Amino acid sequence: MNYLVVGSGLFGSVFANEAAKRGNNVTVIEKRDHVGGNIYTKEVEGIQVHKYGAHIFHTKMKDIWDYVNQFADFNNYINSPIANYKGEIYNLPFNMNTFNKLWGVITPTEAKRKIESQKEALHIEGNPKNLEEQALSLIGPDVYEKLVKGYTEKQWGQSAKDLPAFIIRRLPVRFTYDNNYFNDPYQGIPIGGYTQIINKLLSNELIDVKINTDFFENKNKYLKSDNKIIFTGMIDQFFDYRLGELEYRSLRFDTKVLNEDNYQGNAVVNYTDSDTPFTRIIEHKHFEFGQGNNGKTVITHEYPQEWHRGDDPYYPINNKRNKDLYSNYVKLARNEFPNVIFGGRLGQYRYYNMDQTIMSAMQIVKREFEN
Ligand code: FDA
Repeated sequence: MNYLVVGSGLFGSVFANEAAKRGNNVTVIEKRDHVGGNIYTKEVEGIQVHKYGAHIFHTKMKDIWDYVNQFADFNNYINSPIANYKGEIYNLPFNMNTFNKLWGVITPTEAKRKIESQKEALHIEGNPKNLEEQALSLIGPDVYEKLVKGYTEKQWGQSAKDLPAFIIRRLPVRFTYDNNYFNDPYQGIPIGGYTQIINKLLSNELIDVKINTDFFENKNKYLKSDNKIIFTGMIDQFFDYRLGELEYRSLRFDTKVLNEDNYQGNAVVNYTDSDTPFTRIIEHKHFEFGQGNNGKTVITHEYPQEWHRGDDPYYPINNKRNKDLYSNYVKLARNEFPNVIFGGRLGQYRYYNMDQTIMSAMQIVKREFEN
């Protein structure tokens, strides 16, 4: 069988690799001028720059961890972001270090008592009606005002009072002095960046990669060919938005090289007030413990943006309208293109972390080759 994989992100590359391993010819087309999708990294001043936002690999799944470790050596980076609220610095996720800084409490019992007393004073009755009420009922006003409200409103471009409560089902609150953001047992950053993983996945001689090639420029030709298509672009675009546009949040990345060794002392600093227009600054060298050319560092400001056609779609917006619309596109796909597989974050309109993207690609591989 011949396959055409649209998109050289993690999903498309894992699929291409598995298909080629089984002796199939695979053509991968990619509209950007490089492979890798959003996990692409590029070396600048000896530093691996995460071009499309900070990517930290973390997973509970040992098989997925073993899988990615075939393609790169991972360091033992632990994600411990810092919050900057109007010049006050707090540890994330919310833990005993955060509570100590906020209230001077020392023991977990004191911290729990403080949160409970804050929650009781609010008198929120019934089910929370919006994100603000939900967050307040979970962690009380101090943490909410300083660390949740501004950041969340910037991220979604809406007041927390207008956002649905379900966006925050729970807020990770930890009553230990532990700044490790993730609860997963496996975590790290590939030494030398992510692009090597994609390059290795695509290195089989049965795989032909064409960059700067947009599926939509020759859609009919591709559909008429005898290739089986794995489509990892936007499912609504595939159907020319026939049923309407799915909504996304986009981001603008402003990356610069600075002539200093260490700009902010941490890889990720979130700006949690509403006046600062960006949500966070990434200092890339700290993902690899300060590696890079002397006297140089690379930082990226991240600005959330409304998505319009033509922009990069980063986050699917998970609400009822979009869920229903997506299901209708899936029905359309089954009826009209039963042989096209829609995969990955955009094809399945799902916020997949990297480990889930690999898992989902492997499920498709199983269905495709092991039946
Ligand atoms: P991806 O979007 O990467 O790839 C799709 C590819 O298809 C792109 O290269 C695109 O150019 C191409 N394409 C689209 N339309 C096309 C067309 N018409 N013709 C040709 N090519 C086309 N995960 C995690 O585990 N830890 C983390 O820290 C983060 N951090 C993070 C930050 C940000 C800002 C984002 C947006 C995402 C993350 N992620 C993450 C998630 C991670 O990026 C995600 O799991 C994978 O990149 C998904 O890979 P896909 O292949 O599905 O999509």
